[in-house]
Amino acid sequence: MSVSTEKIYKEVFSYCEKEGLIQKLKESLAFPEEQQFNKLNISKEGLDLIDAVHCVNDKRRTKVFLEEINKYVFSKSVVVEGGIGTGILSFFASTKTPYVYGFEINPTIFELAEKIKKYLTTKHIFPSIAPSFSLKDAIKSKPPEKIDVIISENIYTGMFFEKQVQIVNNFVPNLKKGGVVIPNKLESFIILSQTVLPKGTENKDLFVPTPERGISFKYKTLSKAISYDLINFKVHSRLDINKRLSMIITGDGEINSIIIYSEVIMPSGKVIKRKDADFLNSDIIIAIQPSLKVLKGDTINVHLAYKYGSNPKNARISINKKL
Ligand SMILES: C[S@@+](CC[C@H](N)C(=O)[O-])C[C@H]1O[C@@H](n2cnc3c(N)ncnc32)[C@H](O)[C@@H]1O
Repeated sequence: MSVSTEKIYKEVFSYCEKEGLIQKLKESLAFPEEQQFNKLNISKEGLDLIDAVHCVNDKRRTKVFLEEINKYVFSKSVVVEGGIGTGILSFFASTKTPYVYGFEINPTIFELAEKIKKYLTTKHIFPSIAPSFSLKDAIKSKPPEKIDVIISENIYTGMFFEKQVQIVNNFVPNLKKGGVVIPNKLESFIILSQTVLPKGTENKDLFVPTPERGISFKYKTLSKAISYDLINFKVHSRLDINKRLSMIITGDGEINSIIIYSEVIMPSGKVIKRKDADFLNSDIIIAIQPSLKVLKGDTINVHLAYKYGSNPKNARISINKKL
């Protein structure tokens, strides 16, 4: 009998709840997201255990990923997941095919996924075998065979901090013709803004409005949103972005920040838009100092250059009035 997306969600969520992890997550929400991401060393250690739990807690995000797996994983599909977290996506894939392989870099998170796997096995969730998990770096590991479906949710707005591109680049040469990558693409947008920022804010400081943490910022947008990047995960991508844009000012004000938001595009065409999820894809606000006074109709030259997976503090951002 097939296992529904709801059933797998309920099982994994209630396991985390019983272990006190949802409570710990709620306590961690007292701190701003940027504080959490600034202290991580994702290249070496991945995310924190609580971030992996946060992914599951973000039901709107998880539901879309599970639905895509439901559409694209069949009884003989070979599935590889880079960064399993609690294992929820691989578990669901394993209800459909015996050939599921997952990689996780963080030992504590790996241990949690192994425990949940044991628990689900006792509940006879997997019709043949449970997924095979390895405690390895998904950027360096070879998949065991040619792949039908790559799953990787190592996405951060603007493709800062997380290593989605590097992970998918590693697996994509082993994707069979006609294979699928979940998600398929990431599109990022920029808006020039006048934001009410805390005193003492420095150039390129990061702020993340997050309703679940009760954190919001007052701002006036000074331009329309412009799409500045579209990453296609089905092909080998370059590891950085270097973009020059010309943006028209829509009202008088003072640019002291840029707002970046991203949309996650699935193989089915479904899009997780701005504000469609709780943890995935929050808007980010990057401070621009010194600020720049502008008038409606001005043209602003924007230069944006950074490595995917890096901290916004290390980005090159310049904003100048076109004379
Ligand atoms: C955002 S979570 C997503 C977890 C899970 N796929 C889900 O959707 O719920 C990303 C996971 O990838 C792991 N990770 C990050 N970089 C990794 C790498 N290079 N190799 C393997 N795992 C990695 C993190 O530790 C974290 O558990």
